[in-house]
Amino acid sequence: MPLDDFERYPLLFGPSPVHPLDRLSAHLGGARVWAKREDCNSGLAYGGNKTRKLEYLLADAVATGADTLVSIGGIQSNHTRQVAAVAARAGLKAVLVQESWVDWPDPVNDKVGNILLSRILGADVRLVEEGFGIGFKESWQQALDDVRAAGGVPYAIPAGASDHRLGGLGFANWAYEVERQERELGVFFDTIVVCSVTGSTQAGMIAGFAGQDRPRRVLGIDASAKIDETRAQVEKIARNTAELIGLGRDLRADEITVLAGWAGDLYGIPVASTVDAIRLTAQLEGMIIDPVYEGKSMAALIDLVRDGEIPADSNVLYAHLGGQPALNAYSSVFS
Ligand SMILES: Cc1ncc(COP(=O)(O)O)c(C=O)c1O
Repeated sequence: MPLDDFERYPLLFGPSPVHPLDRLSAHLGGARVWAKREDCNSGLAYGGNKTRKLEYLLADAVATGADTLVSIGGIQSNHTRQVAAVAARAGLKAVLVQESWVDWPDPVNDKVGNILLSRILGADVRLVEEGFGIGFKESWQQALDDVRAAGGVPYAIPAGASDHRLGGLGFANWAYEVERQERELGVFFDTIVVCSVTGSTQAGMIAGFAGQDRPRRVLGIDASAKIDETRAQVEKIARNTAELIGLGRDLRADEITVLAGWAGDLYGIPVASTVDAIRLTAQLEGMIIDPVYEGKSMAALIDLVRDGEIPADSNVLYAHLGGQPALNAYSSVFS
């Protein structure tokens, strides 16, 4: 069915802003770099990429009569914070399973940033000892059962709102939004750089762009340090989403690119290139990015532009997916 026919619960201000990063571009001495800002896409608890995905899941949740959104993530999950915010906005409850995905010694890791915001937003926040993984989790099943046992109607939202039938729609829509903004700006973004972990952000973009006339590269940058899993997940969701929105052809292998090399050894742990990218972007552009996701994709963009892998005559669009609240748990990296 065409993308426009899917029910959407409006959560965004409208199209997210697109603007050039001219001081960063001049510093790198190659392609012109632009940013599209999901970190200011809405007025809901600092926004981010999940808010866009949740427009579709929330509409489904409301249609099915759910009264509680149940989701899962790491302790500093941006995703669960956005679930808490959209639940508040829609007058629903939220149960959030927060697992210890990152072995990060900051003493306030479970008190500040995203988890603090989720508590303020009124979510039932449950801390669980369990390692990193984006697949099915027992603790999440338990939370769903608990809601049912208490007489509620839960709506299950997997990690990152990704492994869900509707998970790719938000960013398929983003791809069409980009096309409209390009027309207004008189520019064509031949290359998109986007961070990938649970996969539906990049996967949705791939499915959306695949239906457009002009080909372009969507470079996913793995931040999970599990490249094979990330690639498999992006591919699966991209193909499902393409079929769901009636693309009418199979995606080609060359439309699905996920690059390794900037994640370091572990999800959630910044490496030197991450920290350099965060400082550089802040000091040249006043734009803040986080140490778990966006700092890693920006480190990749910096290398790819500098090395000419993204050619000098390119216009490259950096998808800023939000995530800054987590910085509060990483103060030691910058002190
Ligand atoms: C700030 C930020 N950037 C990037 C990502 C990766 O997006 P996805 O999980 O859809 O691959 C996430 C969430 O996982 C995120 O919170």
